Amino acid sequence: MYYPDEKVQEVRDRSDIVSVVSRYVSLTRRGNNYFGLCPFHSEKTPSFSVNAPGQFFHCFGCGVGGNVFTFLQRMENITFPEALEQLAEEAHIELPQTEMSPEEKARIDRREKMRLANRDAARFFYMQLTQSPYAQQARDYLDSRKVTTEYLKKFGLGYAPISRNQLCRYLMDKGYSAELLKSLNLIGGDNGKYYDRFFNRVMFPIFDVRGNVIAFGGRVIGKGEPKYLNSSDTELFNKRKNLYAMNIAKRSRRKEALLVEGYMDVFSLHQAGFDNAVASLGTSLTSEQAMLIRRYFEEVCVVYDSDAAGTNAARRAVPILEQAGLKVRVMQVPGNKDPDDYIKANGHDAFEQLIETAMDPVSFELSLSNMNTVDGRVEALRTMKDRLMRIQDDSERQIHIRDVASRLQIDPATLAREVEEARRSYESADYWKARDAVRPKGKEPGGTRIAECQILALMVRFPAMRRQMAERIPETDFPEEDQIVRTAFRYLKERPDGKVLAGDLFILTEDEKEQDILSRVLAVQIPENTAELSKFAAESVRVIRGASLDRQLRECQDISKMQDLIIQKKQLERLETAWDVQAAVR
Ligand code: UTP
Ligand code: MN
Repeated sequence: MYYPDEKVQEVRDRSDIVSVVSRYVSLTRRGNNYFGLCPFHSEKTPSFSVNAPGQFFHCFGCGVGGNVFTFLQRMENITFPEALEQLAEEAHIELPQTEMSPEEKARIDRREKMRLANRDAARFFYMQLTQSPYAQQARDYLDSRKVTTEYLKKFGLGYAPISRNQLCRYLMDKGYSAELLKSLNLIGGDNGKYYDRFFNRVMFPIFDVRGNVIAFGGRVIGKGEPKYLNSSDTELFNKRKNLYAMNIAKRSRRKEALLVEGYMDVFSLHQAGFDNAVASLGTSLTSEQAMLIRRYFEEVCVVYDSDAAGTNAARRAVPILEQAGLKVRVMQVPGNKDPDDYIKANGHDAFEQLIETAMDPVSFELSLSNMNTVDGRVEALRTMKDRLMRIQDDSERQIHIRDVASRLQIDPATLAREVEEARRSYESADYWKARDAVRPKGKEPGGTRIAECQILALMVRFPAMRRQMAERIPETDFPEEDQIVRTAFRYLKERPDGKVLAGDLFILTEDEKEQDILSRVLAVQIPENTAELSKFAAESVRVIRGASLDRQLRECQDISKMQDLIIQKKQLERLETAWDVQAAVR
């Protein structure tokens, strides 16, 4: 770990997860737990829980979980040291600067170097564009697209020279290794022969929300293929998780974000005064991107190209945005133009008026249907039913039902009835999905997953159980695919006394999947009275030992080993009497 355990512990002790989570989620108290709407998936009934005594969170809906650090990490998209530093600062705790492990230090150094290299590359491109005599064509091209100096600077546009080796030389002279530059997708080649990946293109740096350059998109000057060349994913850049210009749009005072398709669309909109425009990066919209919009905006207007591809992309984007909890509208730019073309031709005010005409998703669907034929109307009815049943608000749904019925020339009461029916089965399907997510997923019959959960939860809660469990269960009884459970078991075993909070266990892994498993494990309820507890503990051990012994028996070739395993299985049945629950709960 980067910082000594005691310091991490101290910061954790002084930061209350309930108050940190409350900054993002409105929580209601229920016993020892707090509940709210999960910020990591969209839902209508709260299944996101914060366990105050254990100082951890767990969502019974989508299964995410962690402690106060990992909550901040996910919410703010920051690293563990960053979350630690933030909370330390809030608690007025000084962190020592020295105690980095060599691997940790190497990893942090590398990421830092990558950021610097990208920033230097962006500066290089910018200098080329603004100063090189060879960039005249690029400057003319941007002039022809009405790019102003102010916005060119604001977005850090640049030019990648045609020679194919200048960036390489420039960055290597600054001391960056070829390996690092290759892993950033800036250069290609090997064995001392390297070349620039981007050449003779107008460069658009892509920033993360904190303003670091994490990737580039390069446009050909004029016509050519591919029109845009983009960095592929790197250690710094995941295109599914970022949006172009969100670093600027996040400060917009507008309530509604504008989601557009292209770099140039974003650019012209900002230049025309719409500082709320963002674009997904040459892919179809992802749920991560939708959640990113939701972090800064409550509403979003989809402004895709009005050709068939754009319209279909908009149709796909709507449910993803709604899932993220955004109020969605869809706008069509008239005359097969993209927003950039439109704004150049008609100006700011015309575009502002166009935004006013944006449609709610139901009207948008309707506008795409062919109402002139019977088949078209039947098809429309089918799509509309599907849309209508998803509208949560009752009166909003009624209004839309009436509107759709009148446009399709059908009886509103009939439509209403059908929608309500569809809604009921949809809701119950939703309900079952949520319930299944709550249940620990055991691969083996007999629910060893549940037993694992119970054992760890007991060991966290009752220090005396740690020794007793450790005596009865070898670590290898936990299935191999649940490494994190083994690790947590070992951690508890090695701390036979003293308080361990459930939330402490999350420092054992940086992997989000493993943290989710842990939170699910720790969220199980354990009984309060001793008689039940005894049964509960014994049963858990029996299940997990039994499954492990069966597994070993199946693989066993040696007859005397086999006999031994069979004896152990027999002994399992007497386990309950040997169990010292009194000592455990004292
Ligand atoms: P468009 O072809 O609509 O580009 O692609 P545009 O932004 O309007 O570009 P201009 O106005 O011709 O300069 C939309 C987006 O799809 C991605 C880019 O992110 C682009 O902005 N794209 C497109 C690529 O990544 N590669 C391509 O070859 C084309
Ligand atoms: Mn365009």
